[in-house]
Amino acid sequence: MPLVTSTEMFKKAYEGGYAIGAFNVNNMEIIQGITEAAKEENAPLILQVSAGARKYANHTYLMKLIEAAEIETGLPICVHLDHGESFEICKSCIDGGFTSVMIDGSGLPFAENIKLTKQVVEYAHDHGVVVEGELGRLAGVEDAVNVKEEDSSYTRPEDVFEFVSKTGVDSLAIAIGTSHGAYKFKPGTKPQLRFDILEQIEKNLPNYPIVLHGSSSVPQDLVAIVNQYGGNMPDAIGVPEDMLRQAARSAVCKINIDSDLRLAMTASIRKHMGENPADFDPRKYLKPAREAIKQVVKHKLSYVLGCSGKA
Ligand code: G3H
Ligand code: 13P
Ligand code: ZN
Repeated sequence: MPLVTSTEMFKKAYEGGYAIGAFNVNNMEIIQGITEAAKEENAPLILQVSAGARKYANHTYLMKLIEAAEIETGLPICVHLDHGESFEICKSCIDGGFTSVMIDGSGLPFAENIKLTKQVVEYAHDHGVVVEGELGRLAGVEDAVNVKEEDSSYTRPEDVFEFVSKTGVDSLAIAIGTSHGAYKFKPGTKPQLRFDILEQIEKNLPNYPIVLHGSSSVPQDLVAIVNQYGGNMPDAIGVPEDMLRQAARSAVCKINIDSDLRLAMTASIRKHMGENPADFDPRKYLKPAREAIKQVVKHKLSYVLGCSGKA
C-alpha cells in the first residue's frame, strides 16, 4: 500500500470512537520500533517528522526509511510534518512526498493564523496533501517548540467554526490542558483536561477531526529507571491514560506522542549501559531500545488509542 493521507483514517476513527497514534520519528530504530508495533497490532499509523528531526536525520533519509517501513508492514501509513512554522517548510515537505502537513500558526494573531493556514491549505490540496491547523497554545518545551506557561492559552470554542471554514483546513489541533515534554502538571497537583471545552468544540464543528498534541503519559517506572542508572529527571507528570482513552472516544482522531518514546529509549539505553559498562557495539544497546519503543507503542495502540485491528 502506498503512503496515504489521514482522510480515510480520521473518518473511520471518528465513526469508530478511537484515535490514530501520531508518533514522532528521528532515526531508523524509532521508525522500526513504531512500525513493528503497528504491524503486530494491525493498526493504522501516522509517523510525524518535526523540523528538528529533518535537521537531525535529513528529509530524504527519513522518507526512505518510512517507505521501507511501509513496504515491510503493508500498513496504511501517513507521513506528517509536525509543527510546520512557515509556508516554506510545508511546501518543502509536500514537494518531498509527505502526505500531511501541520501549519502551526497558533502563536499568531487570529487573522494572521487564518491567512497563513489558508495559503498552506491551497498549496497542499492542489498536491493531494492534507493539512492540520492549530488554535490555542500548548505550553511546554521541546527542540523547536518552546512556549512558557504564561503564554499558553486554551482554544476558544467560539473561534473554531470561523477558522475551519475560512481556511479549509482538514483537522484542528486544540489546547485543552495538555502540553509538550515530560513536565505537564505540577507534582502534587491533580492533572486536569478541559473536556468541557472539547465538548463545545465538538458542538461547533460537527463531524470534524480534532487533534491532541502533548499527549505523553510519562510512565513513572521509566523515569525511575532513568534515574536509577545515573539520570536526573525531576518529578514528571504526564496526561493520565484514562483521560486519553476518553478523548479517543470523542471527536479526537489524532493523538501525538513523542516524549514517552524518548523516555522508553533513554531508559533502555541507560539500563543497558549501566549493566554492561564494557559494551561499545551500538547494536547491543539499540536493539533493546528499539524493543522498548515497540512495547510502549503496542500499549498505546491497544489500550490508550483503541486502534488495534483497524488498519
Ligand atoms: O511537539 C514537538 C515534538 O515532540 C517534536 O519535538 O521539535 O524536539 O523534534 P522536536
Ligand atoms: P509529547 O511531548 O507529550 O509527547 O507531545 C508530542 C507532540 O505533541 C508532538 O507534536
Ligand atoms: Zn505538538
